[in-house]
Amino acid sequence: MELLRTPAAMRAWADARRAEGARIGLVPTMGYLHEGHLSLVSVAKDAGCEAVAATIFVNPTQFGVGEDFEKYPRDEARDLAMLDAAGVDAVYLPGVKDMYPEGHQTFVEVTGVSRGLCGAARPGHFRGVATVVAKLFLAAKPHVAVFGEKDCQQLAVIRAMTRDLDFGIEIVGAPIVREGDGLAMSSRNVYLKGEDRIAARCLSRGLFRAKALFDAGERDADTLVGAARKETETEPRAKVEYAEGRDPVTLTPLSGRVDAVTILVAAKVGPTRLIDNITLGKMIPGRDAS
Ligand code: PAJ
Repeated sequence: MELLRTPAAMRAWADARRAEGARIGLVPTMGYLHEGHLSLVSVAKDAGCEAVAATIFVNPTQFGVGEDFEKYPRDEARDLAMLDAAGVDAVYLPGVKDMYPEGHQTFVEVTGVSRGLCGAARPGHFRGVATVVAKLFLAAKPHVAVFGEKDCQQLAVIRAMTRDLDFGIEIVGAPIVREGDGLAMSSRNVYLKGEDRIAARCLSRGLFRAKALFDAGERDADTLVGAARKETETEPRAKVEYAEGRDPVTLTPLSGRVDAVTILVAAKVGPTRLIDNITLGKMIPGRDAS
């Protein structure tokens, strides 16, 4: 497994793989890896990528003032061992100064789909995500890039950016990997101590409750979202930030009767902000088209 620490080294690796005729798959991450991240590597391989690169970069521009950039968990040695075992061919680990040299002043902003949900609570967050992902795409020159459905709005932002800027990269969404008790895996779960870890189940419990209602025939979006919200609202250690029903493809708000809906929730459990989502109903053709 090759370690690449500068944009120039990443580009050289990508050019060499392309010269060999390999299909390049990219898995961007901020490190402190778990099974959810590793599932993205498998998805890239299953998508026919002969050369898979992962990236580890805790991106300062997507953290707001007072958020957890400094204390975000980091463990490079452990991450590299996990990626090696998963069969990754190269890891791109640029430093902050490599990504944002003195005088950096260019950003990528996706407008519509960045608004609301996490975009409302974290101003500038998706601008930072779109900017860093654009930079990773330009350095790694992938044919395919894999992102988790755990970060549903982020996936929609990246699909929009990829389409609007003609990147010509296939964006593949990968299903949410969960702990045994339903909690969606996240690097930030390490912040959940004691009772908070147990309380954190309320997000997925609410989403599964909505799924049970949907499977029993309930089609009213507000009833489904209400069921999801209630589990978190009634958990004393949790505070709901949002619970919303959105169109699974466009993420526009939905209410009334629905055939398909994505329910997204965000909540603070103790000091830790968590997000989760579930899509109910038929998957719409073209959902994975970028
Ligand atoms: P990070 O939170 O490290 O997540 C990296 C990728 O792993 C994202 O595509 C995310 O959706 C996916 N992922 C995280 N938890 C998952 C789970 N439980 N199941 C499936 N996939 C999961 O998302 C970011 O980093 C950053 O914003 C990034 C895109 C790297 C840009 O900095």
